[in-house]
Amino acid sequence: MGEHVLAEVDSMSSGSAQRFDIEGVRLAVARVDDTFYALADRCSHEDFSLSLGEVFIDTCEIECARHGATFDLLTGAAMCFPATVGVAVYPVKVVDGKIVVTLP
Ligand code: FES
Repeated sequence: MGEHVLAEVDSMSSGSAQRFDIEGVRLAVARVDDTFYALADRCSHEDFSLSLGEVFIDTCEIECARHGATFDLLTGAAMCFPATVGVAVYPVKVVDGKIVVTLP
């Protein structure tokens, strides 16, 4: 499905997450300092939006706001219970001040 421009870099602050819906794919995009991460916006424990959770800058993780599972922003790996399965991650880059995600 290729590259998609999501938003201006300045529209997200470090430590924030935001949901984007691109061609039927739900994305949770998080910013840590000047790096952006994109994960499937669906917790692997139950169907809950990860973009509603808190971003942990120090460990580079996002917490599911429903039951508290955390996921590694870089790999999507589940880092604590109750989630035991990771979520998909997608490449993100910044081009001309815009956040660009690549979907397979
Ligand atoms: S729905 Fe995410 S931890 Fe339960």
